[in-house]
Amino acid sequence: MKRHGTMTVNEDGHLVIGGCDTVDLVKEFGSPLYVMDEDLLRQNCRAFHKAFIEGIPGGEVAYASKAFCCLAMLRLAAQEDLGIDVVSSGELYTALAAGADPSRIDFNGNNKTPDEIRYALENRVGRIIVDNFTEIQLIDEIAGSMGLRPMVLLRVQPGIEAHTHEYIQTGKIDSKFGLSISTGQAMEALHLMHAKEHMELVGIQCHIGSQVFEVESFAQTARIMASFMAYASDNLGFHLPEINLGGGFGVYYREGDTPVTPADFAKAIYEALQEELSRHNHPMPRRISIEPGRAIVGNAGTTLYTVGSIKTIPRVRTYVAIDGGMGDNPRPALYQAKYEMCLANKMTAANQIVASVAGKCCESGDMLLWDASMPWVETGDILAISTTGAYNYSMASNYNRIAKPAVVMVSGGKAHIIVKRETFEDIVRNDLIPEHLLWDHGHQWQKLTLPKGQVPVD
Ligand SMILES: Cc1ncc(COP(=O)(O)O)c(C=O)c1O
Repeated sequence: MKRHGTMTVNEDGHLVIGGCDTVDLVKEFGSPLYVMDEDLLRQNCRAFHKAFIEGIPGGEVAYASKAFCCLAMLRLAAQEDLGIDVVSSGELYTALAAGADPSRIDFNGNNKTPDEIRYALENRVGRIIVDNFTEIQLIDEIAGSMGLRPMVLLRVQPGIEAHTHEYIQTGKIDSKFGLSISTGQAMEALHLMHAKEHMELVGIQCHIGSQVFEVESFAQTARIMASFMAYASDNLGFHLPEINLGGGFGVYYREGDTPVTPADFAKAIYEALQEELSRHNHPMPRRISIEPGRAIVGNAGTTLYTVGSIKTIPRVRTYVAIDGGMGDNPRPALYQAKYEMCLANKMTAANQIVASVAGKCCESGDMLLWDASMPWVETGDILAISTTGAYNYSMASNYNRIAKPAVVMVSGGKAHIIVKRETFEDIVRNDLIPEHLLWDHGHQWQKLTLPKGQVPVD
């Protein structure tokens, strides 16, 4: 497993993150456990800040909170002077509660409810990214009823699909996000938005995909967006001053992944915009935003599990089962995501076997890794999976009523719990038993006294 950030190995042969022995972390906080490397989080935030906010005139970085959302993370992002991208009122609530500056919050999403729009407007979020025609109407009505005129951008589909090492320029119009440039719907929407009294149209936004490693994918997107911007400005009769290119910056998950630095992305994007806009005789945007999520938090996260049962099917495969799985990391089951692992308590042992890591959920697809090389593994070993900082905790579920793990943030030998481990009480917190279900029958019908006598009754 590649060592990220502050990872080292101590004299006991244990994996150390943020100066904390991971075996001790499991002893203290239990398992599974998400561990976030605070120094690496800050380093990632600062690399984006330096490249885009300090490095580009009008540059802005809004951390895409969907990647990992909790109070401490959004506080850290705000402390590092990043804006925040949210896609729901839950994420917005968290950002506000963490003290983020509302004027630097972007509200994204393909189906904002009237309540969400009202909530965003009440809290004066900086910008709303409009996804579709229904929203244009809705935002105009709600903003009008509140006497407001929010800044809005239109989410467009530029016709680029980027996947890891390549981009495909497509005429793809079949997407639930945004409105396509090629169908003419994006232009139609801009005309409508421009005409609305209760919104201030300031620009366009797009998001081309995830895990993108090619600067050229972003450069090409910037060219298409700039050229559409120029065309739209000419049509609308005024300059659209803002452009937002979304997220998607790739991170290292396993061998072969080759992340590009934020500085290289920033340079490519800025030069492409300059080149294209000067060709159209248009000024540069006053604001050039991006929304990185994974690239800020992905490699700062490591999940620690305890090995339970080990099953070898002769001449077929060895299954190493851990005490978590798709509940805390649904990505392998959802889209065959690949990871690297190590045995955190046996870092100096040589790899000896090939085995597959199984989760404990009742799904055959609950496998975290297939055919991974590892040292001789035993029940009780601590198995670590790296690069779990993004889309793990934020996508976790309680499937099989398994409690969600705690999250600790580590730095300088200190570990702070930033999300508490769920308890059994948390698991049944919102459950109610209607009165008529309390009657039980033994010899005769009798009203059941529930264990603990404290389960809430409807
Ligand atoms: C509009 C938008 N912005 C930003 C992101 C964050 O992407 P990533 O975490 O890959 O940087 C996403 C991810 O889905 C998105 O849809």
